[in-house]
Amino acid sequence: MIETINLTKRYGDLVALNNLNLTINEGDCFGFIGPNGAGKTTTIKILATLLKPSSGQANIAGLTIGYQNRQIRPLIGYVPDFMGAYEDMVVTEYLEFFAAAYGIHGPQRRKVVNDVLELTDLTYKATAEVNSLSRGMQQRLSVARVLLHDPKVLLMDEPASGLDPRARIEMRELLKELRRMGKTILISSHILPELAELCNVVGIIERGQLLFNGSVEEILRRAKLGHILHVGVTDRVEQAAQLLAKIAGVKKVTIAPDDPTTVNGKGGKVLHMQFDEASGHLFSDVPNVLVNNGFRITKFTEEPVNLETAFMRLTKGLVQ
Ligand SMILES: Nc1ncnc2c1ncn2[C@@H]1O[C@H](COP(=O)(O)OP(=O)(O)OP(=O)(O)O)[C@@H](O)[C@H]1O
Ligand SMILES: [Mg+2]
Repeated sequence: MIETINLTKRYGDLVALNNLNLTINEGDCFGFIGPNGAGKTTTIKILATLLKPSSGQANIAGLTIGYQNRQIRPLIGYVPDFMGAYEDMVVTEYLEFFAAAYGIHGPQRRKVVNDVLELTDLTYKATAEVNSLSRGMQQRLSVARVLLHDPKVLLMDEPASGLDPRARIEMRELLKELRRMGKTILISSHILPELAELCNVVGIIERGQLLFNGSVEEILRRAKLGHILHVGVTDRVEQAAQLLAKIAGVKKVTIAPDDPTTVNGKGGKVLHMQFDEASGHLFSDVPNVLVNNGFRITKFTEEPVNLETAFMRLTKGLVQ
């Protein structure tokens, strides 16, 4: 659905995009992740037909950007990183204005506007001034605007930036709904965990080059992050550590600093057990060994997979 071939963009001497090759299939939700200045906005603007590449090619639905822009534009919805200011305009006027620009007229226009307001949970703000909306609401309005012409492809430049945790969750739910509707979505962010749940594929870009392209599981595998188990015991923590270190597949056992989440709090200590990737994580041996040796277990949880660490390792070039 979206394809870039050796896409390159130079601003003077600065190479913002360096031979970027991307393929995004129909129905994919592609998370485009990279630090500030990586080239995300540049790529998205090129795909939105708003910026000319210096060399290389980009296609959407088999149409080539720069040559078939008029056919491409009805197929895409672009949510920019910043929404412009609109003086003295209420939400419905704003949407009707853009619907008219997309050639939607008559009773159909009112219906479409009402539909997108409902989908983005903004019906109750229909008569509010655009400038009076909170940042989260403005972001949702920005999404509502690009849905008016029912595009197949959504290009979203950090739609969740500047939102509070609740607004982020709401935005994520909205995006999930759009995905269920069959849209192909490209969404950018600095933060890998934010997109991990939403996207089936992610691409990590840095200094205009794609460092990685694949699933979240693949990222973790490439960054070679093993699973870590947190095990709490009431006493004799050093002895427990020695016993657990002997279990097959255990790479390392360390005594963690005091952890307030242990069941009985007082006196309990937590061990962090790192497992070998190839071990298949036979966690069941852990409680057996402890119980058979008279230990009382106060905690038994797996550490959430650390996407931040994986991201840092990949972008620091620690993994090839
Ligand atoms: N109009 C411009 N003129 C000159 N340089 C530019 C221009 N737009 C972007 N750049 C440069 O191109 C590089 C990529 O910028 P881009 O905005 O694509 O990054 P980004 O990944 O979107 O970053 P952020 O996360 O900060 O939004 C940066 O070094 C930036 O300074
Ligand atoms: Mg940007």
